[in-house]
Amino acid sequence: MTLSNLFKLLILSASVLASSLFQHESRAAAAPGFIDQGSVPTNDDITLRIALTSQNVSGLQDILTSISTPGDPVFRQWLSADEIKAFVSPSSETLEAFNLFAVANELNATSISPHGDWVSLTLPVSRANTLFGAQYKRFRHPRLTQPVMRTLSISLPSELVGHVEAIYPGTAFFTPSKPPSVGRGLSLKKGTTDPSCNTSDPAGEMTPSCLQSLYDIPSTPSASRRDNRLLVTGYEGRSPSRESLSEFLQDFRPDISRDTGFDLIKIDNANFTSNGSFDIYSFEADLDIQYAVGLAAGVSIQFLSVGGLDDSSLPTGLLDTISFLEAMEDPPSVMSTSYVFSEEDLGFSLTKKLCDGYSALGARGISVLFASGDGGVRGTHDDPTQCNSTAFIPVFPASCPWVTSVGGTQGFNPEIALNLTGGGFSAFFPRPAYQLTAVERFLSTIPEDFVGTFNRAGRGYPDVSLQANNFAFISQGLVGFKLGGTSFSTPVFAAIVALINDRLLSVGKERLGFLNPWLYQNQAAFTDITAGNNPGSMCPASSVAFEAVKGWDALTGLGTPVFGKLFNAALVL
Ligand SMILES: *[C@@H]1O[C@H](CO)[C@@H](O)[C@H](O)[C@H]1NC(C)=O
Ligand SMILES: *[C@@H]1O[C@H](CO)[C@@H](O)[C@H](O)[C@H]1NC(C)=O
Ligand SMILES: *[C@@H]1O[C@H](CO)[C@@H](O)[C@H](O)[C@H]1NC(C)=O
Ligand SMILES: *[C@@H]1O[C@H](CO)[C@@H](O)[C@H](O)[C@H]1NC(C)=O
Ligand SMILES: *[C@@H]1O[C@H](CO)[C@@H](O)[C@H](O)[C@H]1NC(C)=O
Ligand SMILES: *[C@@H]1O[C@H](CO)[C@@H](O)[C@H](O)[C@H]1NC(C)=O
Ligand SMILES: *[C@@H]1O[C@H](CO)[C@@H](O)[C@H](O)[C@H]1NC(C)=O
Repeated sequence: MTLSNLFKLLILSASVLASSLFQHESRAAAAPGFIDQGSVPTNDDITLRIALTSQNVSGLQDILTSISTPGDPVFRQWLSADEIKAFVSPSSETLEAFNLFAVANELNATSISPHGDWVSLTLPVSRANTLFGAQYKRFRHPRLTQPVMRTLSISLPSELVGHVEAIYPGTAFFTPSKPPSVGRGLSLKKGTTDPSCNTSDPAGEMTPSCLQSLYDIPSTPSASRRDNRLLVTGYEGRSPSRESLSEFLQDFRPDISRDTGFDLIKIDNANFTSNGSFDIYSFEADLDIQYAVGLAAGVSIQFLSVGGLDDSSLPTGLLDTISFLEAMEDPPSVMSTSYVFSEEDLGFSLTKKLCDGYSALGARGISVLFASGDGGVRGTHDDPTQCNSTAFIPVFPASCPWVTSVGGTQGFNPEIALNLTGGGFSAFFPRPAYQLTAVERFLSTIPEDFVGTFNRAGRGYPDVSLQANNFAFISQGLVGFKLGGTSFSTPVFAAIVALINDRLLSVGKERLGFLNPWLYQNQAAFTDITAGNNPGSMCPASSVAFEAVKGWDALTGLGTPVFGKLFNAALVL
């Protein structure tokens, strides 16, 4: 035995003796819909992603609050990637503690994020069970082709306590997505429709020109600046069709070239290719790009297609999206994402770490937008058997205070909250300062005998809203009519932000970046939506839900944007 092996052995036995385990996270049962299939063969390998504690994320978030708050001397002085790294990377003590643990246990860890706060390691399941006090099992879900490996409890050895924030896969589940709402009320017809806006028809169709007239969105193409790009993200390996976009522009944006395109970027083996049969999951990519390109005329648009068709790939996709943006020299100014997860399915540690990641993107000057979901107050669990449930289910990432969450409205004169608009209060994230007054006013309007249960101290969402009903779009050679969901409102709001950025940059001003403190100080730039409720589209109107009221509410946020007013508010600062 060489000296170094002897040394390793000594460390190994020392660590085996010294390690006591401290519970890190647990859940009483698997998330709804998952069926326990029993233990994993212990020789199978598992790849764990481990989040190392960032050295000063609260310091970064204090700075972000300053640089995003109007009137602050450093307002809109966004940070560089290196400046952010100094806060997000783990401290030398954390790195040392983790490296000692890895060496002592002969683990080969690889850094998987630009700031070094995520590492990955592959080990036999039996070792993972021992090292992390886990019991990995297989769980099957009817919408997944493969079972996932999860444990209902996970612990940290004492030497890692305080140095590790999250382990994935661990206790986090996610409900496999149906793309928000497009699976419902589906009606497809071949042909084209009238792109004009008939505001006397309550069932009128939503098109780019209709949105332009409702929200005063300019149709003149912007200057196509390198420093102002809009990034749309898509998951499950789907990419938008250039042909469908071209048909859409011809039918619904005849004033701009039908050859207007977008840059496609693929990560994580985003390689879904249709076998020719109709793919409903491709709707999401098509409608997202069509409403981004169709409204942000002249802005350069990127589509980030993130791979992984199944398994546990969506949460890792969110993480890889953050890493992708953190590594960019020249990041986009806006990101639009129309996917949601149940906050409680994902659990605290993973949502906290991802939310910290969104704060780092906000500090770089990226406006990070997420749909508020289409399950009303019931998160992703929008099925008729849940209608009587009085426990509301918040959705993530909309519930993260460092993103801007976009809800949905419907109709004209009056425009009201769409009954499926996701809205409510985070169970994990406390209410941020920028929305204290607005949210407290809303809470005071809730009747004393309200039976819905939710975290009254939580971050309220959405922040803003706009039309999310009766949209037209084109996918796979068909025109989709009258489909709805916050999937539509999110890229439209992203386009508005991008058009404002274009005008700001053209007069030498900074991009908007993290929006929320500025938005909540400019409620007058929104049309207040004061009617409607959000039981979810599957529930009867009598089902318990929030009601839209005067001022901010947990259905439509501050209301719907008025482009000219928002732009003027951006310009004066
Ligand atoms: C964390 O960052 C803040 C800046 O917001 C700074 O004032 C503080 O000293 C930093 N803390 C540590 C421990 O580095
Ligand atoms: C450790 O992992 C890296 C990346 O996966 C690999 O290239 C390397 O060969 C591994 N080293 C050992 C000793 O297994
Ligand atoms: C607008 O809708 C109303 C109500 O459905 C209908 O009566 C009217 O003819 C429509 N106008 C146009 C120009 O299509
Ligand atoms: C094509 O793929 C889908 C899944 O995306 C599958 O359901 C269908 O059976 C496949 N069709 C053919 C003809 O292989
Ligand atoms: C597509 O990506 C998956 C991983 O997401 C991989 O297993 C598969 O081999 C890839 N297929 C092709 C044709 O590249
Ligand atoms: C919900 O409650 C109502 C009365 O409050 C009852 O009539 C209805 O059957 C219940 N529905 C379900 C699905 O439990
Ligand atoms: C919600 O809207 C959908 C579609 O318009 C409708 O089918 C459903 O009945 C509505 N639910 C309520 C409670 O109004």
